[in-house]
Amino acid sequence: MNYMTGKEVAEAFLKFFEGKGHLIMPSFSLIPENDPTLLMIGAGMAPLKPFFTGKLKPPCPRVTTNQRCVRTGDIENVGRTARHHTAFMMLGNFSFGDYFKAEAIPWAWEFLTEVCGLPREKLWVSIYPNDDEAEQIWLKQPGLNPEHIVRLEDNFWEIGPGPCGPDSEIYIDLGEERGCGKETCSPGCDCDRFLEIWNLVFTQFDRTEDGEYKPLEHKNIDTGCGLERLASVLQQKNSNFETDLLFPIIEYVENISGLKFGDDAKRDISMKVIADHARSMAFMIMDKILPSNEGRGYVLRRILRRAIRHGRMLGIKGAFLEGAIGVVSKI
Ligand code: ALA
Repeated sequence: MNYMTGKEVAEAFLKFFEGKGHLIMPSFSLIPENDPTLLMIGAGMAPLKPFFTGKLKPPCPRVTTNQRCVRTGDIENVGRTARHHTAFMMLGNFSFGDYFKAEAIPWAWEFLTEVCGLPREKLWVSIYPNDDEAEQIWLKQPGLNPEHIVRLEDNFWEIGPGPCGPDSEIYIDLGEERGCGKETCSPGCDCDRFLEIWNLVFTQFDRTEDGEYKPLEHKNIDTGCGLERLASVLQQKNSNFETDLLFPIIEYVENISGLKFGDDAKRDISMKVIADHARSMAFMIMDKILPSNEGRGYVLRRILRRAIRHGRMLGIKGAFLEGAIGVVSKI
């Protein structure tokens, strides 16, 4: 496995896809443009929706981004698992009516196994139950164990109305010691053993407001690879929070609280919540979202309050978040 800093992982990803003819675009703002169906950008594809539907012409039919995302659906899991966040960076490669599964699958495999050097025997993939085409392509990938291909009913990706489709996820088996120990534990299990690192979406439908799935004029690719998750694997850490992308915030909390990360499971949760929430606050404020009583501003306000509460639970007195934000901006 090739050790990489978080920054190096992002650069390697963007460069790899640039080498495959993609235009590198900077991250878009968290505030969706002309899209009343979304409160905030929570996936790399979200700001690119008009390119998938054909409403706008993309600057290039192949695009790659490292998109800042805020999603609060998993907020209660933050700090309790190794991998959940309200704020994260999503690496993605996108095709607008250009290439499809036959390219997206081998490129993902090549990046993970050759650029990142992940052990092939530990990788698993899931596919949508009737997606035999994806299975056939996966079966050709060098070193993938055919028994590591599983069919999952919920492998269909959508975010409100708009472009969507069946997907195929790539997991790494982090070992029994990271798992729940249940007989049924396999990719898709809630525990931390099988870590989903990348989702390849075969975007071929447009979901209408009425819930109808209309075939899109052309087929597209939308992928999402979690930067923090991939960094945790390459840095051989037990959680995203221990990577160079988040640990400096935990160290800051250690310093001001006088506590040590790893000494007490409950306090660790509070430290992880503060680290995660400091990032989402920084991301939102940088995009000019300010605390308020409604909409995005309320999301920020809620996150801010939660972070303060966890600081108080650690015995921290007075204002402390400004320092945490300073650490985020240095990272
Ligand atoms: N849009 C897909 C996701 O967010 C890649 O998982």
